[in-house]
Amino acid sequence: GITTYALYLWRWKKKKLTGLKTVKFGGFNLYEAPGTSIYVPEDHILRLEENNNFEIRSDDIWVITYPKCGTTWTQEIVWLVCNNADTETANDVELDTRFPFFEYPFTNRRPAIRKMPSPRLIKSHLAIPVLPHQIREKKPKIVYTMRNPKDTCVSMYHFIKMLSPINYKGNFEEFTKEFFMGVTVGHGSFWDHHLDYWRLRDEPNMLLLKYEDMITDLNKEVKKIAAFLDKELTEEQVQTIVEHCTFKTMKNNSSSNQSHMQNMGLMRAGMGNFMRKGKVGDWKNHFTPELNEMVDQLNKKWLEPDGLTF
Ligand code: A3P
Repeated sequence: GITTYALYLWRWKKKKLTGLKTVKFGGFNLYEAPGTSIYVPEDHILRLEENNNFEIRSDDIWVITYPKCGTTWTQEIVWLVCNNADTETANDVELDTRFPFFEYPFTNRRPAIRKMPSPRLIKSHLAIPVLPHQIREKKPKIVYTMRNPKDTCVSMYHFIKMLSPINYKGNFEEFTKEFFMGVTVGHGSFWDHHLDYWRLRDEPNMLLLKYEDMITDLNKEVKKIAAFLDKELTEEQVQTIVEHCTFKTMKNNSSSNQSHMQNMGLMRAGMGNFMRKGKVGDWKNHFTPELNEMVDQLNKKWLEPDGLTF
C-alpha cells in the first residue's frame, strides 16, 4: 500500500497519461493534476531518477519528516546542535541555505548539496521507498520527527490553503478525508510514512522524535539530539538552543520562519503565517465527532498494532 505521491507521478509519466494541463505560475511551469486541485512543478517528476542515484556520504545528517510534523523546528535545533549553538549565524543566514531541502520542488538544490562540505545537513520529506538508495548502504544519521495525525492534518489544511500554487478549494472535512487517504499531500500517506520510519527506530543511525515531546520538554529533546549526533554541549548551550527555538522566537526570526516563501509569492496574502500556532491539540477546534472517530479507527488499524501512539 505505498501511496507515495512521487511514485504516483512517476507512474503517470511512464504511462504517458494524457490530460495533464501545464500552467504557468510565477517563473515556474506546473502540471495541473487532472481531477484534483493539485499543481505539481514540472521537473518534480523528472527528478525522481536523479534523486534515487544521488551520492550519499556516511557523515551526512538528514532531518526527515512527513510535512507539517515540525521539520523547520527540528532543522533549526539540529543546525544549532551541530554548530555550537551559534545563534548569531542562525539569525543571519536563512535556514534553507544552511540546511537545504533535498527535493525542493521549485529550484533544484542538489547541485549545491553535492558541493557542500561535510557534514552536510539535509532536509527531506521523502518516504522510505523513494529515498536515494545509497542511504541504505551509507547509513547517514537520520532524525525523523513524528506528530500526531490530527494536528498534522489541521496544520496541513491551513498550509495548503495558504499556498498559492495549490488552488485548494475543499473544506476542512473534505480535506481531512483526502488527507488520510494520502491523496492531497505530495509525500503519500501519513500512515505509511510514519510506520516505515517507526519500524526502523532501533537502527543505530535513526533517531525518532515526537513533536509532542518537544513541546513538553525541549531541553530533554535537545540533549537527546546532541547525544545522538555525538555533540557535547554545555548546559548553557542547551539552554541557548531552547530559547532560540521557542515558537515565539522562531516566528519572529526571518531566517527561520520560512518568510522566504512569502517573498517568492508562494503564500497567499492574508491567509496566516507558516508559523501558525505551534500547539498540541489544536485539532479539538476543528474535528467533528465523526472525523475524530474516523481517525481513531485508522490509528487503531495502522499505528497502534506497531506500538506507535500519540
Ligand atoms: P501549526 O500549523 O500547527 O502551527 P513543518 O516545519 O514540518 O512544515 O511544520 C510546521 C508546523 O510546526 C506548524 O504547526 C508550525 O507552527 C510548527 N512549528 C514551527 N516551529 C515551531 C516551534 N519553534 N515550536 C513549536 N511549533 C513550531
